[in-house]
Amino acid sequence: MSLLEIQDMTMQFGGLVAVDNLSLSIEKGKILGLIGPNGAGKSTAFNCVAGVYTPTKGKILFDGEDVTSHKPWDLCKKGMGRTFQIVKPFAALTAMENVMVGAFATTDNRDKAAAKAADVMDMLGLGDKKDLKPGAMTIADRKCLEIAKALATNPKLLLLDEVMAGLRPTEVDEIIEIIRTLKAKGMTIFVIEHIMRAIMALSDEIVVIQFGKKICQGEPEAVACDEKVIKAYLGDDYAPA
Ligand SMILES: Nc1ncnc2c1ncn2[C@@H]1O[C@H](COP(=O)(O)OP(=O)(O)OP(=O)(O)O)[C@@H](O)[C@H]1O
Ligand SMILES: [Mg+2]
Repeated sequence: MSLLEIQDMTMQFGGLVAVDNLSLSIEKGKILGLIGPNGAGKSTAFNCVAGVYTPTKGKILFDGEDVTSHKPWDLCKKGMGRTFQIVKPFAALTAMENVMVGAFATTDNRDKAAAKAADVMDMLGLGDKKDLKPGAMTIADRKCLEIAKALATNPKLLLLDEVMAGLRPTEVDEIIEIIRTLKAKGMTIFVIEHIMRAIMALSDEIVVIQFGKKICQGEPEAVACDEKVIKAYLGDDYAPA
């Protein structure tokens, strides 16, 4: 059964059609990758799903419920967790307090929120960084903190927007492992990423968009060989021999 279904979704900013009649769905427990050139409309599609924007047209179903135009805080409570392409930690709070903000989405109890935050941070390898302010953390740890904030809300669906951008190859490997662990625990994940080896390794299926429109959808190997995808995004160097 689909956990997320996007039906004929269009998002216009004035005359600019950022997302153009996009349809896709994600089965429970699967990872769907969303790729495409800069400005293709990937983050805008996420922002529509997560309630930041109300799509100009189309429908979004989450766990069978029509959630089109629902607000981000309602969607969060319903089990949608997301990260932002530009990380947005609360600078005055410690890493642990940042994660607790996520945990307060599902509990009013400070001790329970602290326990949840500690669990998530331990799982993500941030156990010894709990008392640091975000400004004192490495970029890789700040990206992990972003994932931790989202996970602390106890999501059924996790939306990850370029959480690996700017990381070293070994740091990318660590995040790939984290995402695999989450999948093994049954999490459904919708991931935007430009790092092809990561998206290829993680995705059950990939959707490619260009100028807001879907140009290809399929298993990673098939998508990577697709002429349209090579022309629009990957470039000839990526084409398999
Ligand atoms: N709030 C907004 N108002 C007006 N235009 C916007 C807004 N948000 C995004 N856009 C435009 O919509 C288009 C799609 O942008 P979006 O950020 O979704 O692309 P993207 O695929 O995430 O790109 P990238 O890979 O660079 O992150 C771009 O032309 C962008 O300038
Ligand atoms: Mg983006």
